[in-house]
Amino acid sequence: MRQIVVTGGGTGIGRAIAEAFAERGDQVVITGRRKEALEETAERLGASVRPIAFDASDPEQVEAALDSLPARVDVLVNNAGGNTDIGAGTPSGLAGVAAAWRANLDANVLSAVLVTTALRPRLAAGGAVVSVSSIAAHRGGSGSYGSAKAAVEAWNLTIAQELGKDRITANIVAPGYIESTEFFRDGMTPERRAALLAQTANGRAGTPQDIAGTVLFLASPAASHITGQTLHVNGGALAGR
Ligand SMILES: NC(=O)c1ccc[n+]([C@@H]2O[C@H](COP(=O)([O-])OP(=O)(O)OC[C@H]3O[C@@H](n4cnc5c(N)ncnc54)[C@H](OP(=O)(O)O)[C@@H]3O)[C@@H](O)[C@H]2O)c1
Repeated sequence: MRQIVVTGGGTGIGRAIAEAFAERGDQVVITGRRKEALEETAERLGASVRPIAFDASDPEQVEAALDSLPARVDVLVNNAGGNTDIGAGTPSGLAGVAAAWRANLDANVLSAVLVTTALRPRLAAGGAVVSVSSIAAHRGGSGSYGSAKAAVEAWNLTIAQELGKDRITANIVAPGYIESTEFFRDGMTPERRAALLAQTANGRAGTPQDIAGTVLFLASPAASHITGQTLHVNGGALAGR
């Protein structure tokens, strides 16, 4: 039975990824900062899903969580993150700009780097690390968030090389606009939604299940020769070349 860790697995895309692995019979640990949200999701998804609460961007909390995390990890999904600028208002002065940038770098880059580094000795040969980036890394408009996701994609090239000797793949899934998550909080208007849908070739928003299916594939034997890649899942809103 494979052991899966999904960071940010209590809500949205991470929850759908956890559900997809659990449905296949894998053992899944979901992580996040909010204990209640994790426990609620774990209860809904069943006995094979276990919640562990910690802040993935805090080295001490990641270290403290190690005792509770599985001794062997077949698949690590670095999904925790989001755009910390949403709802944060305009930063004031350079100190405010620095704090806003650090928040996005912490949430998206450090979370993936720290959890992967901590679990590296436990990653099983033949396993997979899948990290969730964003279409925002490939087009303008989202400043520090897009920059943070671009950094995750650059870092992925390094870990793909490091992990390759143990036959562990490392890939990126870069979603376009995905509905039914907490990402946009109250920030999505009908006009903005319509504009995002108009950018796609298929005229629809992505779903958390669209991303879950792609992660399942990248974590499967069928994808064992795919590593160091970014897979775009955006309905054709951006050509991923
Ligand atoms: N929705 C979209 O359109 C979209 C598009 C492209 C990329 N993405 C990416 O997809 C991923 C999942 O986002 P989502 O759309 O599913 O939004 P979401 O529902 O807000 O999920 C984000 C999850 O990450 C967790 N998280 C955030 N910071 C964390 C931290 N420091 N430590 C531990 N957990 C943390 C959150 O839980 P806690 O708050 O409890 O910690 C939450 O469960 C993110 O990386 C996001 O950037 C989303």
